[in-house]
Amino acid sequence: MPLPNLNDLVIAVVGATGAVGAEFLKIVEQRHPNLYGLKLLASARSAGRTLTVNGREFTVEETTEDSFKGVDIAFISASTEASRHWAPLAVAAGAVVIDDSSAFRMQEDVPLVVPEVNGADVTWHQGIIAIPNCSTTPLVMVAHPLHRVNPIRRIVADTYQSVSGAGAAAVNELKEQTQALLKGHPVTPRHQPRQIGFNVIPQIDAFLPNGYTREEQKMIDESRKIMHAPEIQVSATCVRVPVMVSHSAAVHIELTNHIEPGIARGFLKDMPGVRVLDDTTQGQYPLPWDVTGQDDVFVGRIRQDESNRNGLALWVVSDNLRKGAALNSIQIAEELVDRACLKPGSTPKPKFRVGEPENPAEADRRQDYAYFRANVDELLPKYRDKYVAIINRTIVDSDEDERSLEERVHAKYGREPATIVRVTPGPRVMSLYRQHGVQVGVGSISL
Ligand code: A2P
Repeated sequence: MPLPNLNDLVIAVVGATGAVGAEFLKIVEQRHPNLYGLKLLASARSAGRTLTVNGREFTVEETTEDSFKGVDIAFISASTEASRHWAPLAVAAGAVVIDDSSAFRMQEDVPLVVPEVNGADVTWHQGIIAIPNCSTTPLVMVAHPLHRVNPIRRIVADTYQSVSGAGAAAVNELKEQTQALLKGHPVTPRHQPRQIGFNVIPQIDAFLPNGYTREEQKMIDESRKIMHAPEIQVSATCVRVPVMVSHSAAVHIELTNHIEPGIARGFLKDMPGVRVLDDTTQGQYPLPWDVTGQDDVFVGRIRQDESNRNGLALWVVSDNLRKGAALNSIQIAEELVDRACLKPGSTPKPKFRVGEPENPAEADRRQDYAYFRANVDELLPKYRDKYVAIINRTIVDSDEDERSLEERVHAKYGREPATIVRVTPGPRVMSLYRQHGVQVGVGSISL
């Protein structure tokens, strides 16, 4: 059967008239100029409006129970309540939901995905795939390539978040307040808890009993889930600033071992979707104004944390409407199509080990080269002249202990493996094995 093509699918956009929805449609035009199977949905307020996408005019419809008939993928970016209401109906109608709200993110059976970090997680969806909070996504984009080579122990992230994260109405509110305040008029907050014009607000979303806000707690919980690393300690302070688009963050990362900022810069440069802009001699570092409209997560001010030998300090900026929301969603749709897993329930949820490459098919792209390269002197010499069994991970995703696996390999192939690797390394990693005189059995073993 030929693989599905995104252009052949019907994609519903719930919240098409909102800040993220508008960006979603722009990105569709840029990445998929031949995609015409669109259904633009919003509330009754916008029904009848027309929007042009890929040169065709589409009429916005009110979202109803019937809206999802014949829809393959439903992207929902409206409100948490709207997601709670519409997502199960869309799934019942046979669509895969890519959801931008916090309604389902932490549910066990819902993958929470940033494709460059944990794209393989889309394979075990049960109908809903969540995208992370718009501050979590850039954080994991920079944390993951470092964690792969030098496991992270602790992250402290302080954000400077733009008003567009609160929707189109909040953008208008900032404009109105700025104009009113310049004329000396008083303002009354409507979409933010306090005045945002000429101010910063250390509160995004409601406060929780632990003193953190919900937004901060999302960063803590979501980043661990995406990186499969519940052991990482995370703390965050999320602050709303009078910026229209793009979120910034000052991030402090404590790793297991010391890492030179120059080496860290190299791993960040190699990470797909991350752009290093870091030349303080030329005053170069990312700014929200410049990053707006760009796809990459930008990182600069990469330096040794003066208070911690194993620590790094970074400045991270990303367009919250694009990589923080709409772009990430479209990348998930692309991932679903590439992996031919639109239909839910085909793959069981895998268990991963920290630091282990997740994705056999794209091992090189996913940095396992970086991981091996960084650890090669420690990893490979002990296997010299020994046999390494590479096992298709789908067979061993259970908790099966290493010993019984080794026994099964031995029983079947009559040789004692020095170690069992549960992913298929890419060609560059394989050549490192060979350079170190390790015999590798790959692709031939199924138990
Ligand atoms: P509408 O424009 O008709 O109000 P933003 O995040 O910029 O505030 O945008 C929210 C988006 O979600 C808008 O497109 C809005 O439509 C849409 N929306 C809000 N509530 C619902 C709902 N209950 N069902 C469907 N769409 C909704």
